[in-house]
Amino acid sequence: MTKKNQTREPATRFDLASIQREWDIASDAYADAQMSGVDYYRLSFFGPAMVEACGNVEGLEVLDLGCGIGYFSRQMAKNGASKVVGIDLSPKQLDHARQLEEKERLGIEYIEGDAATVIESLPEASFDLVTACVSLVDMPDPGRVIRGAYRVLHDGGRLVFTNTHPITDTMSREWIRDADGCKLGLQIADYFDETPFTLTWMNERYKYPFQTTGNSYTLQTWMRWVIQSGFIVDDFIEPVATDEAIAKWSGLDDTRIAPLFLIIVGRKDGRVKPRTD
Ligand SMILES: C[S@@+](CC[C@H](N)C(=O)[O-])C[C@H]1O[C@@H](n2cnc3c(N)ncnc32)[C@H](O)[C@@H]1O
Repeated sequence: MTKKNQTREPATRFDLASIQREWDIASDAYADAQMSGVDYYRLSFFGPAMVEACGNVEGLEVLDLGCGIGYFSRQMAKNGASKVVGIDLSPKQLDHARQLEEKERLGIEYIEGDAATVIESLPEASFDLVTACVSLVDMPDPGRVIRGAYRVLHDGGRLVFTNTHPITDTMSREWIRDADGCKLGLQIADYFDETPFTLTWMNERYKYPFQTTGNSYTLQTWMRWVIQSGFIVDDFIEPVATDEAIAKWSGLDDTRIAPLFLIIVGRKDGRVKPRTD
C-alpha cells in the first residue's frame, strides 16, 4: 500500500484571514523545499514551463501576484525585467522573499496585500506583464484578480498564469497504481463542485506537514474569467516534464499520465472591451 502524501477535505474556512494564517504556518516548510532543491515539480517542471511561456521579458515591467517567497519574481528579474513588483497576502512568505532579496539584490519590490485589490490600488496601464505562479488557485476571488490584471496592463501587455489543472485537481481524486505502486492512471470525481477544499501536505519533501486551502473552479469558469475580462487567449499550455527532468526526478513521470498543470497566456487588446454583464 503506497503512503498518501496529501489528503483533501471540504474547507471549513476560505477567507483572507484564514488563507494568510495557513500560508504563514506553511511558509518555513514551503521555503525550505524550494531552497533545498527538492521541490522538483516547481524547479524542473512547471517553473521552467512558466518561464518559457513568458518569453523574452527583457526591459519589461512585471507584476507578480501571489508571489510567495518570490520564486517567480526572481526568475523575471534574473531574466532581465526592468522592474518587478511582487504582492502576497502572507507576511511570513514575504519575510522569506525579502531575506532572499537581501542575499541577492535584484531590485524587487515586495508588497503585502490582497491581489484582488490591485484593480483599484494600482494605476491603470502600468505594467507590461502580470504573472501568477500557482497562486490564483489559492485565492478566493480569482475573477476579480484577473479583471485587475487586465486593468493594470498596458495595451498589448500579457497575463501569464499557471495553476494546477482544474480537470485533475479535484477534491476527490485517486491515483490508480500497479502492484508495485507505480502510477497507471488518475481517477477524478466532483469536477463540477466549485467549493473550496483543504489540502494537508504530508510529503517528505516538506520538513513538517501543513494545510492550505484553495478554490476549485472548472476550466470553463477560468476561461470565462479570462475571456470576459477582455483578454485575447494567446496560448494555452498543458506542460509535460522533459526526458531530462524525468531522468533526474522519476516522480515527474506522472505528468505524462494526465494533465496536472496548465498555463494560460492572455493578451490585452485595448480594442476589446471587458464584458460588464
Ligand atoms: C502556492 S503559493 C505560490 C507562491 C509563488 N507564486 C510561488 O510560485 O512559489 C500561493 C501564494 O498565494 C498567496 N495568496 C493567497 N491568496 C492571496 C491573495 N488574495 N492575495 C495575494 N496573495 C495571496 C499565498 O500567501 C501564497 O504565498
